[in-house]
Amino acid sequence: MVDTTCQGQLDMEGALTARDRVGIQDFVLLDETTEAAFLSNLKKRFSKDLIYTYIGTLLVSVNPYKELDIYNSKQMDLYMGVNFFELPPHIYALADNAYHTMLTEFNNHFILISGESGAGKTEASKKILQYYAVSCPSTTLLNTVRDKMLMSNPVLEAFGNAKTLKNDNSSRFGKYMDIQFDSQGDAVGGHILNYLLEKSRVVHQNHGERNFHIFYQLVEGGEEDLLHQLGLERDSQHYNYLTQGECAIVSSINDRNDWKTVKNALQIINIDEINTNHLFGTVASVLHLGNVQFDSDSKGRALLNNNNAELRWVSNLLGVDAHSLQEGLTYRKIEAKKEQVLSPFTIDHAIYARDALAKAIYGQTFTWLVNRINESMENKDLSRKNVIGLLDIYGFEVFYVNSFEQFCINYCNEKLQQLFIQLTLKAEQEEYEAEDIEWEPVQFFNNKIICDLVEEKHRGIISILDEECLRPGDATDLTFLERLEDKMSNHPHFVTHKLADKMTRKTLERGDFRLLHYAGEVTYCVVGFLDKNNDLLYKNIKDLICQSKNAIVRECFSTMDSDSRRRPQTVATQFKSSLLKLTEILMAKEAWYIRCLKSNESKQPGQFDEALVRHQVKYLGLMEHLRVRRAGFAYRRKYEIFLKRYKPLCPATWPHWGGLPADGVEVLVQHLGYLPDEYKMGRTKIFIRHPRTLYATEDAFEKCKHELATRLQAKYKGYKAKGEFKKQKEAATKIETCWRGVQARKDREKRAWAVKVIKKFIKGYMTRGQAKNTDNSEYLAFVRQNYLNRLKGNLPKTVLDKTTWQTPPAVLTETSEILRKLHYRLMVRRYVRGITPQKKVQFQLKLLTSSIFKGKKDSYPQSVAQPFVDSRISEQDINTRVLQMMRNEHIKYSVPVIKYDRNGFKPRPRQLILTQTAAYVIEEAKIKQRVLYTSLKGISVSNLTDSIIVFHITCEDPKQKGDLVMQCDTLFECLTKLSVIANKQNAIKVVQGSVKIEIQAGKESAVDFSTGQEPMVYKAKNGHLMVVSTRARTR
Ligand SMILES: Nc1ncnc2c1ncn2[C@@H]1O[C@H](COP(=O)(O)OP(=O)(O)O)[C@@H](O)[C@H]1O
Ligand SMILES: [Mg+2]
Repeated sequence: MVDTTCQGQLDMEGALTARDRVGIQDFVLLDETTEAAFLSNLKKRFSKDLIYTYIGTLLVSVNPYKELDIYNSKQMDLYMGVNFFELPPHIYALADNAYHTMLTEFNNHFILISGESGAGKTEASKKILQYYAVSCPSTTLLNTVRDKMLMSNPVLEAFGNAKTLKNDNSSRFGKYMDIQFDSQGDAVGGHILNYLLEKSRVVHQNHGERNFHIFYQLVEGGEEDLLHQLGLERDSQHYNYLTQGECAIVSSINDRNDWKTVKNALQIINIDEINTNHLFGTVASVLHLGNVQFDSDSKGRALLNNNNAELRWVSNLLGVDAHSLQEGLTYRKIEAKKEQVLSPFTIDHAIYARDALAKAIYGQTFTWLVNRINESMENKDLSRKNVIGLLDIYGFEVFYVNSFEQFCINYCNEKLQQLFIQLTLKAEQEEYEAEDIEWEPVQFFNNKIICDLVEEKHRGIISILDEECLRPGDATDLTFLERLEDKMSNHPHFVTHKLADKMTRKTLERGDFRLLHYAGEVTYCVVGFLDKNNDLLYKNIKDLICQSKNAIVRECFSTMDSDSRRRPQTVATQFKSSLLKLTEILMAKEAWYIRCLKSNESKQPGQFDEALVRHQVKYLGLMEHLRVRRAGFAYRRKYEIFLKRYKPLCPATWPHWGGLPADGVEVLVQHLGYLPDEYKMGRTKIFIRHPRTLYATEDAFEKCKHELATRLQAKYKGYKAKGEFKKQKEAATKIETCWRGVQARKDREKRAWAVKVIKKFIKGYMTRGQAKNTDNSEYLAFVRQNYLNRLKGNLPKTVLDKTTWQTPPAVLTETSEILRKLHYRLMVRRYVRGITPQKKVQFQLKLLTSSIFKGKKDSYPQSVAQPFVDSRISEQDINTRVLQMMRNEHIKYSVPVIKYDRNGFKPRPRQLILTQTAAYVIEEAKIKQRVLYTSLKGISVSNLTDSIIVFHITCEDPKQKGDLVMQCDTLFECLTKLSVIANKQNAIKVVQGSVKIEIQAGKESAVDFSTGQEPMVYKAKNGHLMVVSTRARTR
């Protein structure tokens, strides 16, 4: 579980805005670049256990000397794949960033971890390794590689680390480890390069320091059996090589536990039991060797003292002949011509030879171990890999007495500082160049002058040391110092007792020289320089060891340059060239830096020694680095990233900027009101000169975030609602589509059906004349139905309508005819049924009229439609006297007529009244003439349209009136009535042209009929009555 306060702190740090409360996460953003401000920020953060701070991408780490809960798996998860500046500074952020850059850019990287001894370099490198072990993709196969990489650490630390005054777990060798990743980012292999193990520690430790951990681990933790086997006692005090520092037991180190870890680790890195035994055999042999003591005889020659047991153990463990070993430790074999001469050692010599052997054995074993580890971590797949190198090399060291080892270590640090200067300046310069930004170089201390002082060919300290080592004659450490004084007398970074001014001289011994390192002054004591540089092993001992039965030892020594004639390279020169190679390796990679600082000298948690930290900040060049970073511009960011973070601040860029990111940034900063000299637009990045500009932007962003959150929320809600709506719409569309599909299918079926029907219809039409068959049956049925329907709607309404009947199709001609007849009969029937008795009488009369006149008189057709009435004169209109006179007779019919006089044919209006016996001509009250039906011998009318009626009367008596000529408008009605009443239908004659009349008995005249323009009746010149009528209208 993560401590909640810690989590809270992290959250607080999570945003740049928290900067004021816990200092500033990136020194680049400091308002002023003074040392005081720098230190104050560092201290402020350190006091809150925030040990990491950035200078750009460089990580400054201050050793807390206590366990912090910031390396748990939760933290690892937090930093995986996150942008560098998004989370509080952390070593994981740097590791992750390097890893992801490697993956995206397919290039190699290295992380340079520097800082003085005890500052936390080794811890940092372990944290990185652990982070990769967790964060990289894993498979079982990869996990074993990963375990090996992780487990190589305790083994190498056991054999290569020791307690020093500066650090209880000080790395006494340099280590560069490549972690190889395949293109997927899996950690697939590793390789370690080791540099200059401080072998002198095997035989000598300063006060308060220890030998390498493994010796104590073996003695304290080794199983009884093993110790017995190796001839060891469980007491480190027993061994000379372990007690010189007088601090074999240290509270901070648990040798027994560490022993178990190492034993386990050895298994994991594939060192089998035999080799493990050999390995501990060599370690034990060194301890025994340390206990081999010498006495001197009277001539001062070295003799082995009585305690031969230790020597036997050595010979036993190394598998060499004890006698030869003894000889090798006390005599030197000199080859003179063909003879070999043994020259006895003095005690000092013998001790020297013994220690040289011990150092050689241990040193070679260490190299063997590194090789074994490399073999076990080796990735045999030859596909392309990218690597991240971790350089954890001994830090700058200043002891009370500093020797050859410190000289090498500090030289190494000078080289790395040089590399750092070159790379950072180079990187910065390249960045400005690449981005087309003008910049001014920053002044910094270039330590090249010190590097040159040490390594320059022929003139440097190493060259002079080598010369002294190789020079025949009595070269000693002191003659070496003299040579240095000769050659370096004017060098500003070199001082000796002789060269120093008065003041400085007091601080120097005669055998000292002082170098003014970039990290400070270090005074070196020249004693031992030549020996250590030579690192010679006497030949007879070397030859002896080559025959060792201990496989490890034999393997190590047989590979050593055994060519006695060629001098092996001196230690310093070897070291120099290995550093040169390292520089080359590193220069080809992209660099990441971790600068480790010691918070105090006493390894105490919570103590921040300002002076100490200030000194480190100074010599590590952190201020210069900061100034370089800020030289032109304190802050820079890729356009895309800058825009992504701050785009909410400008309406034009929010929520999306459609154009190029650079243009978007330009619009954004214009909107924010950046002044022209506050920023520069590079090719891919924006450069911001002052931190305050960024702060203002960041503050605005912080404010805006809240608004944004609300807006986002609203947007999100909108989005969700939209989603819902879309879903519904989709559903609706789906249903619609289905429905349309159904409809369309129906339509299609319908159309198909229609086509079939139409086709059939056409076929039927074409074959309609044929007898009913399959082709035309439907068509004919349709035609039939259609005709019948049509007929139904258009039936003649009256019997008289002969034209409306629908013309039948051929098939229905007969049917139609039957139907027509039926219909007419029906109509007739209906009509007949509807006739009243009165009407019937009327019709009978009309029928009679027809039988008399039809086709004979031209005006007949017009009369047909005019109904007959009972009488044309009502009884009131008949004079009462007349009625009186005819009271015995029943008036059947009366009508007004015009009577033409017999003499002169004058027209007289009269009433004609028909009774059952006679017809009366009435003038007012007078009966002018009474015509008995019996005397009515005939009735004539013309065939024309006139309405003249002639009554032919039997006239026997001259007093009697003659024929009666009348004009009656209702001629047909009148005559029909008369014919019924008097049964005279046969008496009615239709004449043509003229009709004779008898005016008086024996006096004749005539009525002539003709047609003319106008109807007229007049007496013609011939004395006849002339009746002119218009022609009948043709119908
Ligand atoms: N990040 C850290 N957290 C806690 N303790 C640390 C941390 N870094 C270093 N230390 C302490 O400081 C000691 C020295 O660190 P180390 O890495 O061995 O120094 P260097 O390798 O620089 O000489 C460690 O043994 C450990 O006790
Ligand atoms: Mg270390």
